[in-house]
Amino acid sequence: MKYLAIVGTNSDMSTNRMLLQFMQKHFSAEAEIEVYEIKDLPAFMEPDEDSEVPEKVTELSAKILNADGVIIATPEYDHAIPAVLKSALEWISYTSQALTDKPVLIVGASHGTLGSSRAQAHLRQILDSPELAARIMPSSEFLLGKSQGAFDISGKLIYADKLLELEEIFREFVLFTKITSKLLEEKALNKKAKKYTWQE
Ligand SMILES: Cc1cc2nc3c(=O)[nH]c(=O)nc-3n(C[C@H](O)[C@H](O)[C@H](O)COP(=O)(O)O)c2cc1C
Repeated sequence: MKYLAIVGTNSDMSTNRMLLQFMQKHFSAEAEIEVYEIKDLPAFMEPDEDSEVPEKVTELSAKILNADGVIIATPEYDHAIPAVLKSALEWISYTSQALTDKPVLIVGASHGTLGSSRAQAHLRQILDSPELAARIMPSSEFLLGKSQGAFDISGKLIYADKLLELEEIFREFVLFTKITSKLLEEKALNKKAKKYTWQE
């Protein structure tokens, strides 16, 4: 499996980034995870008809399209996702719509106890919009509270209960990715079959 893991912040010292870096190492036998930074993307602005899509946006779109699924780690800013993450999603929705039908796992870390729960609910709502239309893994939440004490010096997640939870969620996500891909294949086949029936 090949996943793109988006760091949902432009902060240099981010525990959400640490979480994705840990996942990249910890699940390396099950999946190839690329940790991707959105901090260099320009703020979204509706482009003119003849203006080019920024290179970084094209790069992100291509990486999403080439991945079997996407993992997004979001902090919580004022009960919502950070502006930099919203802006990146706006670029995708307005240009490539690369997230359409893409399996997505949402995770998040916060310094407080709630682990970015409100931001994650916000992100679900955004990803469900018609121009993004991602396949968000249902009934799953990975909330890492007290994230400043969650990693040791080597970057290992040291909260044993959270580690077990993360392993379970990741296993489910790999399964969800496979099931979603099967579902979309069937959907495409049905569509093709219907087209032929109409043509007869
Ligand atoms: C502008 C701003 C707003 C924040 N608002 C919230 C909030 O509404 N709820 C919350 O739990 N933490 C809030 N925080 C704290 C962050 O979730 C936390 O400090 C940190 O960003 C966690 O992610 P990180 O380690 O990846 O940066 C806020 C932080 C900033 C900078």
